[in-house]
Amino acid sequence: MKKIFRILGFTVAGVFFLVACAAAFVSVSGIPSYDAPKPLVAKIDYTPVRVAQGQKIVNSMCADCHLNRTTGALTGKPLDDMPVAFGKVYSANITQDKQHGIGAWTDAELVGMLRTGIGRDGRQRVMPNFVHMSDEDVYSVIAYLHSPDAQVQANPTPSHAQEPSFLLKALTHTVMKPTPLPTMPVVAPPTTDAVAYGRYLVMGRYKCYDCHSKDFKTNNDLEPEKSDGYMGGGNELTTPKGQPILSRNITPDPETGIGDWTEAQFVRAVRFGLSPHGPLNAPMPKFSLMEENEAKAIYAYLQTVPALKNNVPALGTTAAVATR
Ligand code: HEC
Ligand code: HEC
Repeated sequence: MKKIFRILGFTVAGVFFLVACAAAFVSVSGIPSYDAPKPLVAKIDYTPVRVAQGQKIVNSMCADCHLNRTTGALTGKPLDDMPVAFGKVYSANITQDKQHGIGAWTDAELVGMLRTGIGRDGRQRVMPNFVHMSDEDVYSVIAYLHSPDAQVQANPTPSHAQEPSFLLKALTHTVMKPTPLPTMPVVAPPTTDAVAYGRYLVMGRYKCYDCHSKDFKTNNDLEPEKSDGYMGGGNELTTPKGQPILSRNITPDPETGIGDWTEAQFVRAVRFGLSPHGPLNAPMPKFSLMEENEAKAIYAYLQTVPALKNNVPALGTTAAVATR
């Protein structure tokens, strides 16, 4: 009997020791590095069509994180709308500056970064990855970053180092790993197929699912529809004033989602930030450059996702605070 207890004691001590080692490893090694991704991409043609498309995508998708109001350019800033538990995260300078921005990155290095989240130096970046964005959209983003637009001109503001919490470090070692490079061309469906096109916009171009599913930690980047609570809201973010805010349920449930919304109400909410409940708060992006047919396609697609019953309390209501 005594022997069993002794063995049990050693086992428990052993497990504790291993957990402590793993924690020390994560804490010291921080955010991991990998081999830099090497996608097979030739020099991208920066055509005017791509620059225009890229301008739309970058201002809808990247500027919220990368635009610095003081410099008026994409020089990076502290990201105050990230979950507080992630520590302090700073977006980077992605202007054309050769030393502090992306001026010295090749097109292939930029594609690799956007697809996988791994930089040209192999360090994983704490940034959403754009696995399902079409090749054409990715090339458009890169074309725009090299355009004469004022907010991407070389600006020598240095990027800030990251101050990740233990939780964020641990997550990058486990569930927030880099995504693999696509093995086949990624092509967006035709705009005439509204449901398929809307699905592409939600998963590939605008990544609505990222914020609108249950939790960043349980999102499935490779198969977004398998994310916990897909589009059912409740993911906790932070407003620019530092208040906790939950993303809303945009599944077709008529009571707790948008099942009782008209297409026009939905289009207005997404493009102009005005929902039937009132103005929408940041970090819900303002998709003012999104075309009307894009918003309509997203509406058509959302009618086809499984309805989830999840009553998400609005900003500032006591229930929202109580769920913290
Ligand atoms: C949720 C916020 C967020 C969004 C959205 C976002 N980024 Fe980032 N980005 C970051 C952060 C944070 C870093 C720096 C991370 C680090 O150093 O670990 C970064 C780093 C980068 C880098 C690497 C720069 C360097 O020198 O290391 C590039 C390139 C980049 N972003 C481009 C983009 C583009 C293009 C888009 C839009 C398609 C985009 N990002 C969208 C937050 C974001
Ligand atoms: C950066 C995170 C983020 C992204 C990306 C995002 N949203 Fe939101 N969204 C939010 C938050 C947070 C709210 C809640 C705002 C509020 O309550 O004021 C919200 C609210 C909404 C609402 C209002 C719902 C209601 O019941 O009032 C709609 C509609 C919506 N989002 C659609 C979208 C669509 C469509 C996309 C993609 C094109 C998208 N969102 C992308 C965070 C996000």
